[in-house]
Amino acid sequence: MTDTSAHPDALDAAALLRWYVAMGVDLAVGETPLDRTAPPAPAPMPAPAPAAAPPRVAAPPSVVAAPVADTFAGAVDLDDLRARLEAFEGCALRRMATRTVFGNGPADARLMVIGEAPGADEDRSGTPFVGRAGQLLDKMLASIGWPRETVFVTNVVPWRPPGNRNPTAEEVTLCKPFVLRAVELIAPRALLLLGGSAAGAILDRHDGITRLRGRWQSLATPSGEIPVMPTFHPAFLLRNPPSKALAWRDLLALKARLGAPPR
Ligand code: URA
Repeated sequence: MTDTSAHPDALDAAALLRWYVAMGVDLAVGETPLDRTAPPAPAPMPAPAPAAAPPRVAAPPSVVAAPVADTFAGAVDLDDLRARLEAFEGCALRRMATRTVFGNGPADARLMVIGEAPGADEDRSGTPFVGRAGQLLDKMLASIGWPRETVFVTNVVPWRPPGNRNPTAEEVTLCKPFVLRAVELIAPRALLLLGGSAAGAILDRHDGITRLRGRWQSLATPSGEIPVMPTFHPAFLLRNPPSKALAWRDLLALKARLGAPPR
C-alpha cells in the first residue's frame, strides 16, 4: 500500500518503480544511474590512421579461443573444475549474475542432465533447476526411478542471462568447454538434454528439439561414446502440458537403457 504522508518525490519514485516492474524490469545492471534522456555526447574526432599499422584479423566469434578451452580441459576433478569456473573471467554474464551455478549431484552419477542456463531462482540459490521447471524435472526423474539425488544436473551456461533472455551463440560457445569437461569427468552412462538450446550446443545440431527429441544420439568423449537423449525442456512442458506425453516416452526410453540406479 502507498504511504500518502510520504514526500511527493517519494510517491513519484514509488510509481516509477511499479511501472518498471509492470514492464518486466527485474534487474539493475549498473551501480551508476544512466540519464537516457540526456542529449548524446558529441562524436569524438576520428584519430588519424597510424602510418603503417599491420592489418589485424579478428577471430571469428564462433571459435573458442584456445586458452578458454584449455582453462576447463585441464581440470583434474569436479572440485578443480568448479574452482576454474569461479575464477573464469571470459564470459560477461558472470558480472551480471549473483551466483555461479556449477551443478549438483554425485560426481560419479550414471545419469547427467543438462539444461540451458540458470533462471532467477537458480541465480539466487546457486543450484540448478530449483524453480518451477526444476520441480517438474524432479518429478520427471522420480517417475522413472532416478530421483534427483542420483543424477548430476547442470546447464550449458552457468550464469543467468539478464532478464532470463536466451544465451547468445557466443556465450554458449564460451561456456561449452566447461560443461563438456564436466561430462568427461563424470563419465555418465547417459545424458538427458533439456530443450533445443542444450541439445543444439552439446550435439552441434540445429534442427530443433521437435525433430531431435526421442531419438538416441551419441557424444564422443576421450573415454568413449555416451548415449544422449534429447527431450523437451520442463519450462516448455509447463507452458505446453500436452507435450508431456512425448517427454514421458523419451524418459521411458532412457529408463529402458539405464535400468535402475545403483543402491
Ligand atoms: N532452466 C534451465 O535451463 N536451467 C535451470 O537451471 C533452470 C531453468
